[in-house]
Amino acid sequence: MMIRYKEPFFILETKDLSYVFKILSTNHLEHLHFGAKILDSDLNQLHTKLTAKARGVIDYDNSENKDIPLDLTPLEYSSFGKGDFKLAPLEIKMPDSTFVSDFVYHKHEIIEGIYASKELPTGYDDESQTKTIIVTLKDTKFNIYLDLVYTTFFESNVITRRTILRNEEKHSISIRKIMSMMFDLYGNDYEMLTLDGGAIKEGQKHITPVSYGTYINSSMTGISSYKHNPGVILLKKGTHEDYGMCYGFNLIYSGNHYTAIDQSSHGILRVMQGINPSCFEWDLHQNETFETPTTVLTFSDKGFNQLSHHMHHFINHHMIPRQFKNVERPIVINSWEGFYFDFNERKLLTLAKKAKDLGIELFVLDDGWFSTRNNDQSGLGDYDVNLKKLKHGLVGLASKIRNLGLKFGLWFEPEMINPVSKLYDKRPEYAVKIEGRNPSLGRNQLLLDLCNPEVRAYIMNEMSKIIDETKLDYIKWDMNRYMTDMFSAYVPQQGMFYHTYMLGLYNILGQLRKKYPHILIETCASGGNRFDLGMLSFGPQIWTSDNTDPISRLSIQKGMSYFYPLSTLSNHVSLSPHEQTLRKTPLHTRFNVAMFGVLGYELDFKYLSAFEIKTIKEHINLYKSYRKILQYGKFYRFNEDSPYQMMYQVSKDNVHILGNYQILALPNPNLEQVRIKNLKDNEMYALKSMNQKMTLDKFGHLISHALPIKLNPNKALFRLISRFKQLDNATEDVVLSGQALMHGYKLKQQFMGTYYNDQTRIMGDFGSQIYIIKESS
Ligand code: GLA
Repeated sequence: MMIRYKEPFFILETKDLSYVFKILSTNHLEHLHFGAKILDSDLNQLHTKLTAKARGVIDYDNSENKDIPLDLTPLEYSSFGKGDFKLAPLEIKMPDSTFVSDFVYHKHEIIEGIYASKELPTGYDDESQTKTIIVTLKDTKFNIYLDLVYTTFFESNVITRRTILRNEEKHSISIRKIMSMMFDLYGNDYEMLTLDGGAIKEGQKHITPVSYGTYINSSMTGISSYKHNPGVILLKKGTHEDYGMCYGFNLIYSGNHYTAIDQSSHGILRVMQGINPSCFEWDLHQNETFETPTTVLTFSDKGFNQLSHHMHHFINHHMIPRQFKNVERPIVINSWEGFYFDFNERKLLTLAKKAKDLGIELFVLDDGWFSTRNNDQSGLGDYDVNLKKLKHGLVGLASKIRNLGLKFGLWFEPEMINPVSKLYDKRPEYAVKIEGRNPSLGRNQLLLDLCNPEVRAYIMNEMSKIIDETKLDYIKWDMNRYMTDMFSAYVPQQGMFYHTYMLGLYNILGQLRKKYPHILIETCASGGNRFDLGMLSFGPQIWTSDNTDPISRLSIQKGMSYFYPLSTLSNHVSLSPHEQTLRKTPLHTRFNVAMFGVLGYELDFKYLSAFEIKTIKEHINLYKSYRKILQYGKFYRFNEDSPYQMMYQVSKDNVHILGNYQILALPNPNLEQVRIKNLKDNEMYALKSMNQKMTLDKFGHLISHALPIKLNPNKALFRLISRFKQLDNATEDVVLSGQALMHGYKLKQQFMGTYYNDQTRIMGDFGSQIYIIKESS
């Protein structure tokens, strides 16, 4: 029984959590509890004890038992204009032209499974794990109904919420703001964790203290954006990775989002999440309904790691397209950083052959295969294949790639149009723009109007032709500009533009998913500019960032991991120095970071030495043996991280993999230990590190002191020897109990500025090591 009504209480439960609210004498809903599992015997004492009057508050109703001050009552969803002065979750112009509404309990229904939406992703349940309750509120004056829809996902420890507004009055109403969820809790010692950033710096974690007033995390770019990811954590001050109380919220939506945390003067903290109300205006005529996107809520009393595990379980089991659930994702070679727009069939096949030799499984041709697309100034919107580059067309290329034993995938940017394109010449009205204004360009391109069904049909038809001809295994669905000049002739009010666009996008993605269920869709928006649960409902993985520098990637991937599991993070190894930072990093570290997620390569192998090629082959073999763990394991972050060092751990089926990354080498560094998480106390474990061979040049001129022959590190002979002569790096190979490893295993000493020997760990700047920990029999 995951959802119960025990008059007047509603009790929603997951494996470890309870969520409770009740009907008040005024028929408003009081929020009582969201957190660790509680007992039924607790229910009678969970309410707010308003035992005396307070100054300065409005009584809802003067009659006996109804003189409840809504401003002092933690509510489950509020209205506006009846005495609750905290931030309102909705703003509706009612049939009488006022903004006053008063939604109170009307009825409820408990159903098995999910109450799915036809237009918006809501998650799914193949495991009979879910129950849903629809609590219908009715306005006290008008026949206007508000459904609060809650679904409990038992194993995931997640509850989802959304709201549906229905107008049964003759007069239209106008929605200006409608949140997917709201609830109030006690507290004035909370902080807010958000992921903020920009191009090539996605997912940077920030923690902001919540004080009086409203704290907002939102986007008005038209997409979820890397400026502010829609995921938000509300944490008790002092919460860390493994301890402390925190609540997590994320919206299954890819457009303008909004999360507000509002601290009021009586110690009540209000949380709400939904579509950004800015520039939103949606009229609801008689018998029409409006559905909000769904919010995903969870709670942890064991810090952020546990909160992330709940979110990750939910995404892996109830969110990503079901045909990819638990399916190992292929290792990709992507043509972008290797060639950009400058390729032909011969170059692509050379790359593919080498990739195949190394063990790579999927070849992805990125941007540049169509129309006049020899740079980013033209061609978007067109789908004719560039036969100058691909003399046997895409069909010819695809079959040659397949003959090599690789799968074939292709890049598209379906939502866009370049003013320099055949499509624009024919159909300028397909582009989003406003008559009388010069439309602003982003990467030389305009948005296609997905509110227009003809545009959606055009995209679907053109893509289908290519997919059918080339029998694609994979699609990279890209989106490279924010929205401006918002207007569509296909919406009755321009305040409907952003959301209708999203519905249009989900409509095409839904069609594509249905027609081609086997195609692996990886979504992308200039990297992680649309990294959200909406996109994950259609494509199970996302290109995390255009930044492939592993040191930048450490914080980007760590940031994303607060809300999104490793199976969703697409990570590529590229050449160094990195194009985004000009930083030089070791090949081992590039792999050691990219391996935590879905691995790929994005480089031209011809620039690598034989030693590096051999190393990549070893890396790929290692990845394949642990792929299930690296994509679907439980991911742990560490409190011990510092500006100089970071660690990741992933665990599954009694195998644990720890990545230890040295961001900068310190002179004469501290002795170090690694603390492995999630082991069994009395079990014995073998801990092994990889032998990460080094080339001679790691030591530069120091080598001339160590060798009998004096070599100049700047001369050709040294460089030549360097290419072939490899040195072993110190490794660890020990057996210890779970207890001892969780307490901390003391690593061999790092190089401390003198007396090197073969038992010295050489890490250096950007060095890293991988430890594999298995039960030892
Ligand atoms: C975006 C993507 C890249 C690449 C280019 C192609 O920037 O994030 O990965 O696909 O577009 O133009």
